[in-house]
Amino acid sequence: MELPLIYKAKIESMFEGMKIAPLKETSFEITDDYKNEVQKGKHLIDDILKAKVYALMRMPATFGAVYDVLLKTKEFYDGEISSLIDVGAGTGAATIAANELFNLKEITLLERQKEMREIGEFIVSENEALKSQSTWDMFDLSTENIQKSADLVMASYVFNELDPKYIKEAILKMWNAANKLLVIVEPGTPLGSKIIQEIRSILITDGGYIVAPCPHMDKCPMNEKDWCHFSTRVSRSKLYKQVKGVEVPYEDEKYSYIVFNKNECSRCSARVIRHPYYSKANVRLEVCSRNGLETLDIRKKDERYKKARKVNAGDSL
Ligand SMILES: C[S@@+](CC[C@H](N)C(=O)[O-])C[C@H]1O[C@@H](n2cnc3c(N)ncnc32)[C@H](O)[C@@H]1O
Repeated sequence: MELPLIYKAKIESMFEGMKIAPLKETSFEITDDYKNEVQKGKHLIDDILKAKVYALMRMPATFGAVYDVLLKTKEFYDGEISSLIDVGAGTGAATIAANELFNLKEITLLERQKEMREIGEFIVSENEALKSQSTWDMFDLSTENIQKSADLVMASYVFNELDPKYIKEAILKMWNAANKLLVIVEPGTPLGSKIIQEIRSILITDGGYIVAPCPHMDKCPMNEKDWCHFSTRVSRSKLYKQVKGVEVPYEDEKYSYIVFNKNECSRCSARVIRHPYYSKANVRLEVCSRNGLETLDIRKKDERYKKARKVNAGDSL
């Protein structure tokens, strides 16, 4: 799903009259830091130009990933969500995604970096209704407690920045603040998937119920070679392509995620984890199911065939 045009235009407005070279350099620095400096508790985006370039280069993709996750959540959760706490809100991508899908009345964006918050407030302010429902608070997840609660508590692309020694404490703080749902989205890398697995174990032990993506709450059957991740395609703007020095007009954002409910809930019986393979006789699906990892050959006579022809990687079966 594409970041709505009003926000895209607001982001691009920040770069009017600017030269491409310093944007390229800043974009490179950000990419480099996110490759080499994660899990150290470092402040990775610590000036206003980096915050602007983050919004340009990353927000459409993180928005797309969170939007997908929330859509998958809604398949198995039909309760009302009217309040949100977005932890490590950055420039507001996850809040914007949640606002597209839920009828939110009260939104709290928690962020420790004043430059991210400044740019986030600027972008979100393009939507008057969203602006009027939103409160931004300076907050450090490693050292502070969350003082409010909300129906939905979320963190997208935040936990891989934390020093690993804070993960358990941080996730339990968020869990305690969640009245209904907790959503964590991480990059779709082996590290992101490992963090999601750790969070999964902590919250199962703490009495949470998985909504998605897992079809069960047993031990995760993925090994390190098969890290659990999904993907969403988003378009690249002309400015993005200039800054990145690429021509391909889209990118595939890979993400890992987990969604927990405070109450017992239904979940899928199987989740498609690779792109389907079609032949004349059947559809071959790699799935994670209640039996673990399985290959399903679904033939034309099978009652699941019609659905199997339509599913994509990441869909429930
Ligand atoms: C990669 S950005 C993600 C921003 C946004 N959630 C998104 O999906 O686009 C990570 C954000 O988490 C914030 N962050 C990292 N560690 C934090 C902490 N301990 N407390 C609060 N925010 C934190 C960073 O300042 C940054 O804004």
